[in-house]
Amino acid sequence: MIRARGLERRFRRKGRNGGEVHAVKGVDLDVEAGELVGFLGPNGAGKTTTLRMLTTLLKPTAGTATVGGHDLLADPRGVREHIGYVAQGGGSAPESKVADELELQGRLYRMSKADAIARGTELCEQLDLTGLGRRLTKTLSGGQRRRLDIAMGLIHSPGLVFLDEPSTGLDPQSRANLWEHIRRLRAEQGVTVFLTTHYLDEADALSDRLIVIDDGRIVAEGTPDALKARVSGDGVEVGVDPASVAEAAETAGRLPGAHELSVTGGVLRFRVPRGDVALPELLRALDGRGIAMTSMQVHRPTLDDVFLTLTGRSLREAEQGTHTAKETADVA
Ligand SMILES: Nc1ncnc2c1ncn2[C@@H]1O[C@H](COP(=O)(O)OP(=O)(O)O)[C@@H](O)[C@H]1O
Ligand SMILES: [Mg+2]
Repeated sequence: MIRARGLERRFRRKGRNGGEVHAVKGVDLDVEAGELVGFLGPNGAGKTTTLRMLTTLLKPTAGTATVGGHDLLADPRGVREHIGYVAQGGGSAPESKVADELELQGRLYRMSKADAIARGTELCEQLDLTGLGRRLTKTLSGGQRRRLDIAMGLIHSPGLVFLDEPSTGLDPQSRANLWEHIRRLRAEQGVTVFLTTHYLDEADALSDRLIVIDDGRIVAEGTPDALKARVSGDGVEVGVDPASVAEAAETAGRLPGAHELSVTGGVLRFRVPRGDVALPELLRALDGRGIAMTSMQVHRPTLDDVFLTLTGRSLREAEQGTHTAKETADVA
């Protein structure tokens, strides 16, 4: 469905300082029909820029791609007809009625009035918007408005839809509801979905496969589970009598694959490839030395652990303030 090679985009900076932002630095992507792929990265990583290139809204500085079977550069119109695009901020006009927005959108794709209305009604049913046709879009809830954006992106029945940050700004309940709708798009309509997100929970909950982007480059890809298994391993926390903690730490350090070992008071923390395998082993080893465990905890690695291992930064932290720093670095 998508095959991109070496996609790149530079922006000339406006204003006094001039200079250049290298927003996307050579991205390869492969997305198969029927996949639900999450494009995960912090703000400023280059997600929107990549998406705008793939949807023909922005010309790549370098690189090639076919999208929905059409060449991005040679046949942009073919690409546009076969994809849907839901922009980061959405696209409905506040003073328009829901049904009118859907009809207008269909007409933009050269659908007949009757077809556009019929398809709009069908999408309203699928996306839980039935009965809202006469409402002004500005009176919709955040979740309803986001579902309307998606309906507008699907009006011409594309086989591939791009969603840019679909759940940003929604409350937890509306987000969960939107995720369910996105899953159903794929499960019931067979639509291929490529979505960007900077939310770890969204990437984790929704994607079959994740492509992680940082600073314009792809740093990893795989299923959420494979990514977690590959890079960090499980976190283990074991409490022992503080008097024997040094001996316990030495014992833990000998477990196969144990790493990132640290000791705080009577608690030792480390990572191992499989916590459920390591714990009984450690328990036996400590037992043999007459050391009793007072507490134990295993947590599966999170996607934030993955991002941290890959980039040396936590994605949560990368969200706070590094955007500007990165841009300055780009220009320098
Ligand atoms: N039109 C533009 N002109 C100049 N810089 C831009 C433009 N669009 C995006 N950028 C810069 O490119 C980088 C990537 O932006 P973007 O693709 O929007 O990231 P993301 O969607 O991952 O948050 C950022 O540093 C951003 O400021
Ligand atoms: Mg963006």
